[in-house]
Amino acid sequence: MASNAAASSAPDTVLVVDFGAQYAQLIARRVREARVFSEIVPSTMPVAEMLAKKPKAIILSGGPSSVYAEQAPTLDRALFEAGVPVFGMCYGFQLMAQLLGGTVDNSGAREYGRTELHVGRAGSTLFEGTPTEQQVWMSHGDACSAAPEGFAVTASTDVVPVAAFENDEKKLYGVQYHPEVLHSTHGQQVLEHFLYRGAGIEPSWTTGSIVEEQVAAIRDRVGDKRAICGLSGGVDSAVAAALVQKAVGSQLTCVYVDHGLMRKGETEQVEKDFVAATGVQLKVVDAEERFLAALAGVSDPEQKRKIIGREFIRVFEQAQAELVAEAGEEGAEVAFLVQGTLYPDVVESGGGTGTANIKSHHNVGGLPEDLEFELVEPLRQLFKDEVRMVGQELGLPEEIVQRQPFPGPGLGIRIIGEVTRDRLDLLREADAIAREELTAAGLDRDIWQCPVVLLADVRSVGVQGDGRTYGHPIVLRPVSSEDAMTADWSRLPYDVLAKISTRITNEVADVNRVAVDITSKPPGTIEWE
Ligand code: XMP
Repeated sequence: MASNAAASSAPDTVLVVDFGAQYAQLIARRVREARVFSEIVPSTMPVAEMLAKKPKAIILSGGPSSVYAEQAPTLDRALFEAGVPVFGMCYGFQLMAQLLGGTVDNSGAREYGRTELHVGRAGSTLFEGTPTEQQVWMSHGDACSAAPEGFAVTASTDVVPVAAFENDEKKLYGVQYHPEVLHSTHGQQVLEHFLYRGAGIEPSWTTGSIVEEQVAAIRDRVGDKRAICGLSGGVDSAVAAALVQKAVGSQLTCVYVDHGLMRKGETEQVEKDFVAATGVQLKVVDAEERFLAALAGVSDPEQKRKIIGREFIRVFEQAQAELVAEAGEEGAEVAFLVQGTLYPDVVESGGGTGTANIKSHHNVGGLPEDLEFELVEPLRQLFKDEVRMVGQELGLPEEIVQRQPFPGPGLGIRIIGEVTRDRLDLLREADAIAREELTAAGLDRDIWQCPVVLLADVRSVGVQGDGRTYGHPIVLRPVSSEDAMTADWSRLPYDVLAKISTRITNEVADVNRVAVDITSKPPGTIEWE
């Protein structure tokens, strides 16, 4: 399949050279927060290739290695001679020190975690306007004991004499700590000083400019052909579709497969609110019966996921074929498939170390590879928070733009046991109550997501009214997280939990208990299945 459309006019770009730690993505996000476009490149990329991208500045990320370790990643010194401003952080800082003739030694001067930084030159390019004592986040074994010639030492700690340096003439800067993490109290300010003062970049990467660029790129790419987009009800596919709609209007048709596993009100949100906000042409396929029939008698989570994934692809392919047939002669012109792939997926699939497959993930919209379409992926350069901002800019409904993550297989994997329509209805009611109360308490932005799970194969004794009951438990799974790879259980206020519990047991028939899951991830996963 062909790759994605290139932006029509490239924005000013900062390259973040990834030395293999988990920090590069965070740095790239912080640069974007400073309204400058950033792109992550591997440290193995030849310097000539980096320079060919015409970056306005280059940031060297932290890394797990010591510059003395065998096979420690390194760089061609030519990078520092190219006249492009460079900012080294942590490992990037030490590498800079070493390559430019300073001294880095493995003397046991380690620092991990919160550290007090003593800023020696408050008027320096990086530290201007920041306090002379500030908290920073350190994580290093080696330390720089002498800066390279021509560099001014601008900060130190109790342990390391050279914790920051700069050479304004050559536009080279470095700090031993991690300015990108929130524990470094003035980190963002220091980063912005590098970008604006050191590298002289204007902050011009705004939501409006992203929309403009993408719309122009999509128009270029799609021309007068037609495109199809699968909508899942989630943020990514909605924003991708809205961008393509803005670019090519009625040349786009969206397909929404209603598998009957959505939460209360979500299908209506797509059918009515999304269509009203964008004017998009939408084909809705009501496939509830088909999915329920395929899921009948199945309790095993992996099997459920496979069935839902398989049925989804079949239904989508059928809808696609119908669209092509309806287009008649012009059918051959249906050439593009729109997908909401995000930047972290691009970075992670581009040579990342990969993670173990704990559950077979299925994204509604995750399609077979032999489709005869070219992909249009207008969100390939964006992080999730940017996607939300673009959605807002495009006037999408708040409920869609701010929606918390929801798994492709929907409530199908939140019913522990066989999936039936009655159980789905029950879970939809309980879930709607939990969502309503969390929103009313203003907690939506504090939690990452809150799966509501029905233990359909479990019953326990209760007493409701005058009688003994034998009902199902509902489990609330509120979690806080940065990226869903790890998560902690959210400490929700007791009165909110109490209200949810009372309402669910009063209002949802056949439920007589509400439990809260207090397991972090790991060892638990976020979803129960
Ligand atoms: P777990 O349960 O693996 O979930 O801790 C991590 C995040 O992924 C979501 N999730 C899915 N998303 N298709 C999706 O699109 C899936 O099959 C799927 N399974 C889990 C989950 O909601 C959480 O945000």
